[in-house]
Amino acid sequence: MQDTGKKLFIRTFGCQMNEADSDEMYLALAQAGYRLTDDMEDADAVLLNTCTVREHAEHRALSLVGRLKFWKQRRTGRLIIVAGCAAQRLGSELRRRFPHVDLAAGAKDLDRFAELFAFAADTGAKAFPVAQRNAPLVAYSTIMRGCSHACAYCIVPAVRGPGVSRDPGEILAEIKDKAARGAREIVLLGQTVNSYRHAGGETDFPALLRKAHAIESIQRIRFISPHPGYINEDFAETLERFPKIARHMHLPVQSGSDRILALMKRGYTRAGLLEKISLLKTRVPDIAVSTDFIVGFPSEQETDFADTLSLVRECGFSFAYCFKYSPRAGTPAAEMPEQPDGITLEDRLARLLAEVKETAARRFEEQVGTVQETLFETPDKGRTSTNYWVRTKSQQTPGTLVKTKITGLQGNTLLADL
Ligand code: SAH
Ligand code: SF4
Ligand code: F3S
Repeated sequence: MQDTGKKLFIRTFGCQMNEADSDEMYLALAQAGYRLTDDMEDADAVLLNTCTVREHAEHRALSLVGRLKFWKQRRTGRLIIVAGCAAQRLGSELRRRFPHVDLAAGAKDLDRFAELFAFAADTGAKAFPVAQRNAPLVAYSTIMRGCSHACAYCIVPAVRGPGVSRDPGEILAEIKDKAARGAREIVLLGQTVNSYRHAGGETDFPALLRKAHAIESIQRIRFISPHPGYINEDFAETLERFPKIARHMHLPVQSGSDRILALMKRGYTRAGLLEKISLLKTRVPDIAVSTDFIVGFPSEQETDFADTLSLVRECGFSFAYCFKYSPRAGTPAAEMPEQPDGITLEDRLARLLAEVKETAARRFEEQVGTVQETLFETPDKGRTSTNYWVRTKSQQTPGTLVKTKITGLQGNTLLADL
């Protein structure tokens, strides 16, 4: 093995897809002789993988890019790589605003990242086999890239391109490889992950789930994020019949108002959404559903917002990420009249958070007395199929699936006996 002795620090913003992309870029950098460090001061190179989904997310990433100027000045030969969605959105503006950046590689450049890096920095190292960034019990696999929807508020299709499903053979080989390295849970990733359908192939999302289910050492399968539009009988039946698929779904709904859903171009109505959730619950009665909401979309009225609040109760979400609407340049929503003011955004966010907290707490308390299949990640801590953390007094082997009886609650963790 050849080692240049150089160290790399990685910081990832944004979603799990960005995390998975960081893993890929790490592999290219490791082949160029870099070893990971979790201390930025110790590093010779920094890789920042950025997000731009909301202004706040982009701002956090870019202010770190700004501060890196001083990091670079403290030692000669330091390298700064900025990748991901904000890099894609800004294009050449990034290097103009931050001339100390050595390499800017947008989210669409992932496939040729190694090439771009080799061009930007000649480390003199020969390629050698490298281990994965981490070989964890929970591994991720990006099954589709980009997004072919056009939600009016969303910048993701612009920075990631249209949706493209990866070859199922390639995905399954990757999952098997991760399983051989110790993965017991696999998380399938995509912006509308259940729209997966490989071009020219027979494999749609339920079929891919069934194939992944057949991989013996994989104990649990999760996926993020499904879109309500692709929930159908076959999908619900697959969840019912294949027990390794988690009894939890993070299903972003964004709003409970038909008027706002139409303006958002989400492609479903409140009634349609309730029908899909009821289809799931008929097949899998104990399924936990969590979600994302946006408050303060242009022209949202109190009556629209009331529909969102009531949807929380009606669906009984186990959890929800709630976001203040953030106008993104180039999206249709940013051009719409009646943009929200700061006070409205704060007020609605606070009220929605309170509603979500109450509903989620009720769901959480209902777990006491139930028996939950738990995948242990450390000797005394694991996650239920329904996505709650569980702690036990007895010790388990990490990576094993154990039936636990929930006896109590502590903070946001369930307490359990075997
Ligand atoms: N593909 C996923 C969502 C990806 S973005 C889906 O469609 O379900 C993650 C979340 O960020 C979204 O669910 C939405 O709630 C939020 N989001 C996206 N764009 C936003 C914006 N402009 N302002 C506020 N929140 C936004
Ligand atoms: Fe954005 Fe909509 Fe695509 Fe999700 S489905 S990434 S919200 S455009
Ligand atoms: Fe952010 Fe890009 Fe993910 S904008 S949420 S990192 S797809």
